[in-house]
Amino acid sequence: MIHDYSNRIVNPEKAVEIVKSDDRVYLHANSCYPELLVKALCDRYNDLNNVEICHLTSFTKAPYVNPEMTGHFRHNALFTGNNVRKAVQEGRADFTPIFLSEIPLLLESGKFPIDVCFLHLSMPDAHGYCSFGVSNECSKIAAENSRVIVAQLNKKMPRVLGDNFIHIDKIDYIVECDIELPELPMVDPNMPKEERAVYRKIAENISMLIKDGDTLQMGIGAIPDAVLPYLREKNDLGIHTEMFSDSLIDLIELGVVNGDRKSLLPGKVVSSFVIGTKKLFDYIDDNSLIEFRTSKFVNDPFTIARNDNMISINSCIEVDITGQVCADSIGHKIYSGFGGQVDFIRGSARSKNGKPIMAFASTAKENTISKIKPYLTPGAGVTTSRGDVHYVITEYGVADLFGKNLRQRAELLINIAHPNFRDELTEKAKELKYL
Ligand code: COA
Repeated sequence: MIHDYSNRIVNPEKAVEIVKSDDRVYLHANSCYPELLVKALCDRYNDLNNVEICHLTSFTKAPYVNPEMTGHFRHNALFTGNNVRKAVQEGRADFTPIFLSEIPLLLESGKFPIDVCFLHLSMPDAHGYCSFGVSNECSKIAAENSRVIVAQLNKKMPRVLGDNFIHIDKIDYIVECDIELPELPMVDPNMPKEERAVYRKIAENISMLIKDGDTLQMGIGAIPDAVLPYLREKNDLGIHTEMFSDSLIDLIELGVVNGDRKSLLPGKVVSSFVIGTKKLFDYIDDNSLIEFRTSKFVNDPFTIARNDNMISINSCIEVDITGQVCADSIGHKIYSGFGGQVDFIRGSARSKNGKPIMAFASTAKENTISKIKPYLTPGAGVTTSRGDVHYVITEYGVADLFGKNLRQRAELLINIAHPNFRDELTEKAKELKYL
């Protein structure tokens, strides 16, 4: 039955009048960032004080973190994207460390009440259901636990299948639009040749651990994505991942990814959002292969572990020679967040024949910094603990740390560090009595 919602259609300026001082406003993430609503809200900044704006990743303009918004809006990052990173690092915005799998639990607990949820959805189907489109993550659960729901309904928002819908009757204020979604290619097309060669070697090292019939998760960052083109010779791969990007399309079209041997939801690409280009948005539109679920399901380590042969591929900022991983900060400066890294590391460790992989280039900043360190940089947080870490991979090889003592770990990690830093790391390891 088609539901008449015409009496709830308003313009963006009217829709955002529902926001009051001291409210918490939750924003739909990634390419579902509700830009029209955010702009209208920020235009009202002089009427409002102490409004908290929280969200996961987004990559378009975030006017609420501009210095002149201080006192009117304050951002609370559940994952720090590039558009809010400076504000977080300068102390003008907050960061909340939390596993992606547990954000839904927080939202449902009542400990983090949401006053207004801004969504960016597809137009309703014949039965009145709007899709959360290219990004579900925690937004569906945020909406279900919000006092008021305001939605931008976009004719260009793909209808992505799965547990990815909300009924039009649940939405309090509706703004209709017909606008392109923001795009973000995962791999920099202008990446220098030398860097590309390093990524290729890392991808080859990862692909040696991947067998026909395995199920994959690709974390955020260039390396997890770079591995995909090196899997063209594999067969029957499955996907259970919080996110994916354009590179997956080729593997699906080649028949390499078909999910035939998955132990959980066989035949489906299970995910909760994509980051990529219009080509990808069009590809997932009304595609029965794609099953979007919330992070509560996709990222739950117990759900992940129900996939046999689960391979998780994540990246990091630095690792110490005992195996402690920092992925969310550069020293004390917050760079990103936990995201789903620990969820997938733990889930794949518990999966039958699963393999948690941490992969990164051995150096940063044009070979001046080793990403394998004697100890973490002061202020760096531990994202993945040394108890959780299993496979560590650089362009120089694979270190399997599971069940290894600290002496063995130091040896294995120094062996895959950049040669320029191995002597210095060995000396430090001796000084610290690991060797
Ligand atoms: N010391 C100093 N700077 C470092 C560094 C180090 N050890 N390692 C990286 N950097 C710098 C890089 O030079 C780069 O700086 P720039 O932006 O000025 O060029 C920046 O940090 C990002 O590094 P890069 O290697 O390009 O990052 P990436 O895009 O490959 O992403 C992570 C890597 C770790 C940031 C990303 O994977 C992440 O946020 N992980 C946490 C969440 C997660 O894993 N989720 C998984 C499920 S989605």
